[in-house]
Amino acid sequence: MSERVPVPTLKSPPARRLERLARAAAVVMREPAEGVERIREKIADEGARWTKSSSLAPDGDWPASLHAMLGVEWTCQEVTGFDPLWNEVVAGLRGKGLSVGRGSFSGWDDGDAGLARAAWCVTRHQRPEIVVETGVARGLTTRVLLEALEANGFGRLYSIDLPPPLAQERLVNERAAAVTAELRTRWTLIEGSSRRRLPGLLRELGTIDVFVHDSRHTRRNISFELCAAWSALRPGGVMLADDIHGTIAFEESIGAFGNPPAIVCSSDDQRGRFGLIKKPG
Ligand SMILES: C[S@@+](CC[C@H](N)C(=O)[O-])C[C@H]1O[C@@H](n2cnc3c(N)ncnc32)[C@H](O)[C@@H]1O
Repeated sequence: MSERVPVPTLKSPPARRLERLARAAAVVMREPAEGVERIREKIADEGARWTKSSSLAPDGDWPASLHAMLGVEWTCQEVTGFDPLWNEVVAGLRGKGLSVGRGSFSGWDDGDAGLARAAWCVTRHQRPEIVVETGVARGLTTRVLLEALEANGFGRLYSIDLPPPLAQERLVNERAAAVTAELRTRWTLIEGSSRRRLPGLLRELGTIDVFVHDSRHTRRNISFELCAAWSALRPGGVMLADDIHGTIAFEESIGAFGNPPAIVCSSDDQRGRFGLIKKPG
């Protein structure tokens, strides 16, 4: 008698929708405020399909432009230290059995080497006391920021991250997997959405030196985070924002801030764009 091979069943769209609804209901019941916030962002995502994407062209030599913006000579010594660090970070994650790249963390991208290189140079050259970032996932950018603060010998990083929803609890173990135990003494991780956590954190900190956006990349969320961080950013401080290509939030924000110096950069894999803004002063 031949063995019956089990055929994987494809769930019908209504069944999948019901499952998603049940998951959403569970998240709302567990943490009502965050659940409502997730729903608001979903609606904003839907709306964003009908808005324009960014038309800003990337700077063909952004590392040189970044260093000119920071008032530092290019090529700098610091950038040569970045590549070995990045290779170590990626190898460390792969050593833990994790694949690294776009969409690897429940659909979220791992940090891009281009953004991380810019964050490294900004942190080494600006020598910030207070850095705030949103969006941790496996913590590639977090690790690079903390390594740069450690190399500076001072400074603290505050990261806000909305944990993966209920159905993906296994991802909790992957969160911040790139961040070593020794670096965590300089680190404060705050759980929750940036919309709920960022205003209070900025009020508590007063002034910040560097801000990195890498959480949800809707127009609503990017605009909200950049606007909140801009008010707290010290004159001369720098903001970095990942994945700005999908909406017009970055150019809208630059306009709202009175057109300060800004640079648009291509990610290392050329599939995305990130941006930098410096507050005059
Ligand atoms: C693109 S990943 C971050 C990648 C990370 N910076 C790195 O270097 O690997 C986005 C992260 O932001 C979190 N997130 C999503 N929405 C958020 C929100 N509204 N506020 C804060 N974090 C959010 C996701 O759960 C995920 O961990």
